[in-house]
Amino acid sequence: MKHFLKVFLCICTFATEAQNAVFIPDTLSGPIYSITMHPDSVQFFPGKKSHTFAYNTNKYLGPTLLFKKGTLVTINVKNLVNDTTTVHWHGIHLPAKWDGGPHSPVLPNAGWNPQFKVMDHAATFWYHPHMHMKTAEQAIKGAAGLIIVRDSAEATLLLPRKYGIDDFPLVVQCQQYDSLNQAMPLGMRDSTLLVNGTMNPYLNAPAQVVRLRLLNASGERTFNFGFSANKQFYQIASDGGLLNAPINTTRLRLSPGERGEILLNLTAMATQTLSLMCYGSELPMGIQGGPTMPMPPGSPPMDSPLNGIDYNIMKINVVSPTTGSITSIPNSLTLNTPLSESSANAKRKIRFTADSAMVMDGPFYFNDSTFDIKRIDYRIPLNSTEIWTLVNKTMVAHPFHMHDVQFFLLDRNGIAVDPQEKGRKDVVLVAPEDSVRFITKFEDFTDEQIPYMYHCHILMHEDAGMMGQFIVSSNALGIQKSVAVIDELIVYPNPGSTVLLLQINGKNTIQTYSVIDVLGKEIINGKCAGTGIERIDISILPAGVYFLRVKMPDGILEKKFIKE
Ligand code: C2O
Ligand code: CU
Ligand code: CU
Repeated sequence: MKHFLKVFLCICTFATEAQNAVFIPDTLSGPIYSITMHPDSVQFFPGKKSHTFAYNTNKYLGPTLLFKKGTLVTINVKNLVNDTTTVHWHGIHLPAKWDGGPHSPVLPNAGWNPQFKVMDHAATFWYHPHMHMKTAEQAIKGAAGLIIVRDSAEATLLLPRKYGIDDFPLVVQCQQYDSLNQAMPLGMRDSTLLVNGTMNPYLNAPAQVVRLRLLNASGERTFNFGFSANKQFYQIASDGGLLNAPINTTRLRLSPGERGEILLNLTAMATQTLSLMCYGSELPMGIQGGPTMPMPPGSPPMDSPLNGIDYNIMKINVVSPTTGSITSIPNSLTLNTPLSESSANAKRKIRFTADSAMVMDGPFYFNDSTFDIKRIDYRIPLNSTEIWTLVNKTMVAHPFHMHDVQFFLLDRNGIAVDPQEKGRKDVVLVAPEDSVRFITKFEDFTDEQIPYMYHCHILMHEDAGMMGQFIVSSNALGIQKSVAVIDELIVYPNPGSTVLLLQINGKNTIQTYSVIDVLGKEIINGKCAGTGIERIDISILPAGVYFLRVKMPDGILEKKFIKE
């Protein structure tokens, strides 16, 4: 039966003829850029048009911004949508006040004018709204665009870089539309594939080496990219720029928010066709896009017909080569020098949690706390080199994204990561039960007021509170000589009835604590004596769910507990 279904779906996929030339967004060059977000609509399906959000003259997505490393750019953002928005420059290293997170709202008919120096290496970044609880809704309507950073080192390499000719931007999304043809932010039955907003797309690519800049801009689906007939390609860049050398491979897995640049050698393929595909059958269960998990009886259907199967995303027609075409693959690209583990000043651990181990659709938390825009989770001293450990205690995979910095992955479950993940990264997919470590340094942009975000890039998880914020501070707790472990807040017995004991596992001391109810009201608070175990009398609390919030010199930790 399952097999029959697979065959049937494959026929369907092949039957939908690739009929639309993939849209290639215009580019804007600096140093001054204008991007105006407006409401629009697109006829994706027969019947009702789908409402969209787009930037500038586009009906969906926005122009590609071309940045030059080392230049000062000014961006005139305007919001013509009847809703508050923000614009976040995903992956770009810039001051917190220009980062475009939830603290920088742009009201309807208002503007915002970030100005910053481009410090990143040549890479593919992107921009999208970041209003808390509205990111999914706005982004899946089409509010997103690419940013291409160029630099002089990359310019010396023999690589395709003629935009839209041999260097193609590919924003890939899988979306769900409701019966009225409108995009659904909570679409776990996502089955509409769009490349640059084009349905059933084809790309005419010249018979030479072409560069594809792939962005997974989906709300939740992970793509296991490859080509028909398992054609080999070369990955040359990850999120934050070039890898040391091209990696000859047949697959590139990108979770939401991740980017990868690849070279595809089409020199011997003139007049032939091939397909960009997703090999979903190879994804493990737990990653959205892999096989659907068996559901508890009576649950609503959450399956997408694309889960666990291999499908076409875009047809590629190989056409005549251009003049001055690139026909070979370089041997080396750059030299990334990851920070050494011994240089770390601090370690932090983030556990991905949920109300129970069985939860599949959220809400999900970091260290048992939901996002609070008024709470700074970490105050990070300027110049701190840190190792963060991400531990996924839920049943679904989460792409963890961090603002401000690029990081280098150290290992996954103690094993060195694959070469494809050894470059600069700002998103990493953490599968259920996985423990991933990365190292990064916070060397610029102190701001005592405006934090940077870290969050799950599954947009519905982010909107539902799987997000935290940190400040880079010049007067946070000085960098300790020894490694400070900011670990877990241990609360027990939980559930408890009379006394709660709390203990902090690490070098921090608890300064104050408070007990907060589910409505956010503070019910108990107190000061702590110092190190060791604190006891809190909870006998007066009515039975229910509460949060214990403790303040320490390095930040705030929160833990949920139950009063019986
Ligand atoms: Cu792609 Cu916090 O964002
Ligand atoms: Cu970001
Ligand atoms: Cu998530």
